[in-house]
Amino acid sequence: MKDYRHIKKRIDRYLRFNFYRTDGLISRLDALIFRELVTGQVKQGVRGSLVEIGVHYGRSFFLLALGRSGSEKALAVDLFEDDALHTNREGIGRFGGFRNNCRKYRFDFSDAEILKSSSLEISAEEILGRVGEVRFFSIDGGHTYEHVANDLRLAEKVLTRDGVICLDDMFSALWPEVAIATFDWLRAADNRFVPFLATKEKLYLCDSDYASFYLAMMRDDEELNSRVFRSISLLSHEAIVLLPSLTSKVIDRAIASLFSIGRLAKIARSGNETQGPSTPLLQTLPTKK
Ligand SMILES: C[S@@+](CC[C@H](N)C(=O)[O-])C[C@H]1O[C@@H](n2cnc3c(N)ncnc32)[C@H](O)[C@@H]1O
Repeated sequence: MKDYRHIKKRIDRYLRFNFYRTDGLISRLDALIFRELVTGQVKQGVRGSLVEIGVHYGRSFFLLALGRSGSEKALAVDLFEDDALHTNREGIGRFGGFRNNCRKYRFDFSDAEILKSSSLEISAEEILGRVGEVRFFSIDGGHTYEHVANDLRLAEKVLTRDGVICLDDMFSALWPEVAIATFDWLRAADNRFVPFLATKEKLYLCDSDYASFYLAMMRDDEELNSRVFRSISLLSHEAIVLLPSLTSKVIDRAIASLFSIGRLAKIARSGNETQGPSTPLLQTLPTKK
């Protein structure tokens, strides 16, 4: 119980500052849901490691890493290969940026916890060998049918009976194959998984025996309850839909803009100091994948 409170505090500290400083795509609402799920699991005695495929600069992965309790481990899987091709506004590629963030936020990951590889190249045995069975598996890597089907199969093989799988971009018009692969997998014969929660971007799944356990966990949370909340039927299973309230959307945008302005000002200052080419203050947003 003490551990659960301590973990929640740690995640809240990250959510107040470093979450906004970290380039990334997970929304504030999904970040709060990650916090509730990983801390709720600890509170209820669900044990295992926390894994993400598709880490980028670590924005969502750090939430999982902060959720580790006792000897639990986290695992970051990403290609991390396109440092030369993909850079953020500070001109830093994914691997460099992720490692910088780990240093800045004082994460001390073991070699086993960072896997620079395509998820298509890894096996369930490799994940189990590195971090053991998994209680939270976030899938946010390649968004084609092949990638999502592969990543779901990996998750299914390493997840504890009472664990959670989270899928990104499930409802995006840009990535329709994510939903096709997921529904094919869900409908496959003797698939034991059911959805229990959906947001604008993500779908959360668990073993059908644990659906009421996770539904109750989400309903009991006061902060999440204040968001727009509806219950739907998805493949004949009850699922909650959470959307950010207008007030929370405005507040989140305002805070994110403040941090963004701060970062841009820092970049502009360092450009002036080094007399190098200055970074344009107005840049197009990076494309998603
Ligand atoms: C949308 S970003 C992840 C965003 C991150 N989860 C967040 O919320 O900030 C997608 C990531 O998936 C990685 N990726 C793409 N294909 C992959 C693959 N086959 N295996 C592992 N990672 C992959 C990319 O390198 C990229 O960092």
